[in-house]
Amino acid sequence: MVVSTQEIATSVSKPWLDLRGKIVMVTGASSGIGRELCIDLAKAGCKIIAAARRTNKLKALCHEINNMEISNIHANEGEAIMHDVLAVALELDISAKGPGIEAVVQKAWAAFGCIHALINNAGFRARLIFDPTGNDSRPFIKYQW
Ligand SMILES: NC(=O)c1ccc[n+]([C@@H]2O[C@H](COP(=O)([O-])OP(=O)(O)OC[C@H]3O[C@@H](n4cnc5c(N)ncnc54)[C@H](OP(=O)(O)O)[C@@H]3O)[C@@H](O)[C@H]2O)c1
Repeated sequence: MVVSTQEIATSVSKPWLDLRGKIVMVTGASSGIGRELCIDLAKAGCKIIAAARRTNKLKALCHEINNMEISNIHANEGEAIMHDVLAVALELDISAKGPGIEAVVQKAWAAFGCIHALINNAGFRARLIFDPTGNDSRPFIKYQW
């Protein structure tokens, strides 16, 4: 494979243009923005650790990514196409206590042996009205960010 000096200069000055092989953990990956981010990052050559509570949705997402025609992004030109695992699902509840979160982080790290970036997207759409009286006991106000 021949790489031009311009390509090298671009990859050094703008590393975000070449995401091949980067391992990215995305929380809130089971729907919405997180799900779409996972698909776009996988298309850009990233390996994905997809985390949320609804593991059935995560598994469907990972199945979709692992069966995309994108495996060749990870191989250099002329090399055999490698059918690697590109995405793994990980059950995570961000409202869990410290030890629970630590256990999930261990699993996340073990999935590919490294994490280059975390996109901490998990949350909820802000369409609820905050109750200033403090009487609202719905679970969403218990999240500690
Ligand atoms: N859409 C917008 O216009 C907008 C605007 C401003 C900010 N945002 C922020 O962008 C993020 C994504 O928004 P969205 O529109 O894509 O929302 P969404 O479709 O409702 O997705 C929210 C994601 O967060 C996950 N999640 C929620 N609570 C969780 C918990 N306790 N533990 C782990 N995962 C949890 C959900 O997965 P599970 O239910 O499977 O756990 C889901 O995958 C949110 O943080 C939101 O506040 C969105």
